[in-house]
Amino acid sequence: MSNDLFYILIISNVFSALALYLCAKRLLKFRRRQKRSFTFKSYPIQKCQLEDVHPCFIQDQLGPSPNSTVYFIGGEGVEASLSDRETWVVAALAKFSKRIFEFGTCSGKTSHIMAMNAPKEGRVYTLTIHPSQLEQLSFENNDDRLHENIAKEEAKFDIFYYSDLSTSEKIEQIFSDSKQFDESKFKNSFDLILIDGAHTRSYIMSDSKKAFSMLKKGGVILWHDYKPEAPDVFSYLNDLSSEMPLRHISGTDFVIFQRTS
Ligand SMILES: C[S@@+](CC[C@H](N)C(=O)[O-])C[C@H]1O[C@@H](n2cnc3c(N)ncnc32)[C@H](O)[C@@H]1O
Repeated sequence: MSNDLFYILIISNVFSALALYLCAKRLLKFRRRQKRSFTFKSYPIQKCQLEDVHPCFIQDQLGPSPNSTVYFIGGEGVEASLSDRETWVVAALAKFSKRIFEFGTCSGKTSHIMAMNAPKEGRVYTLTIHPSQLEQLSFENNDDRLHENIAKEEAKFDIFYYSDLSTSEKIEQIFSDSKQFDESKFKNSFDLILIDGAHTRSYIMSDSKKAFSMLKKGGVILWHDYKPEAPDVFSYLNDLSSEMPLRHISGTDFVIFQRTS
């Protein structure tokens, strides 16, 4: 090999290595900004299928069991709505839940659906901040600013989907900032808890801590918006999954925890 060829080979290898190094550095910086953990699996929490969530979702060769039949309204035109598959999941779980708690009411469509499907004696407690209570909000420095603003923008409802409907008899509306809400009188009392309030780190931590203390043995917590676009929810749940058995429900942005003891 001539000397020239040898030097060209060396120089091109050095440039390739440098380009690779710069690409990897940019990728890691991007992932850090997204607050994603340093794993290249895009959704680190283990996935589960609907039939692992509740036996009512077990399928035979013709499709899902009739036990998964629910009262249902699609999410068309509803602000910050769950997807239709997510609505099916909460509605079906509500059928087997006497006491339900929701962090974040928004339009109240999901509260209505859960109340429609809950047993006759069932009760749905739904907590949201009233438009006149915005000064109660207490975000922290490391909270995601985008979702801080979204939480404020969505705090505009004081009339809800269920307000003039018979489901209002099964629903207890609580107006409060969720950090100020005193959960102590609800210890170990809920079968189903949906966490869908402010999507910032300090709030998701506070809401989750309260949810764990209010959850009954055998009960279920669902967190909504497990996705990189809600980085504080995503990173909090990824961290929590190293301490407890969380699962990501396939085809949804739900993460589920089932309390067994
Ligand atoms: C994503 S929406 C909830 C959607 C609702 N669960 C549904 O399925 O239709 C979030 C709601 O949480 C409320 N919220 C945001 N921050 C809150 C806080 N700190 N305390 C109580 N509610 C809060 C917002 O006002 C908004 O109504």
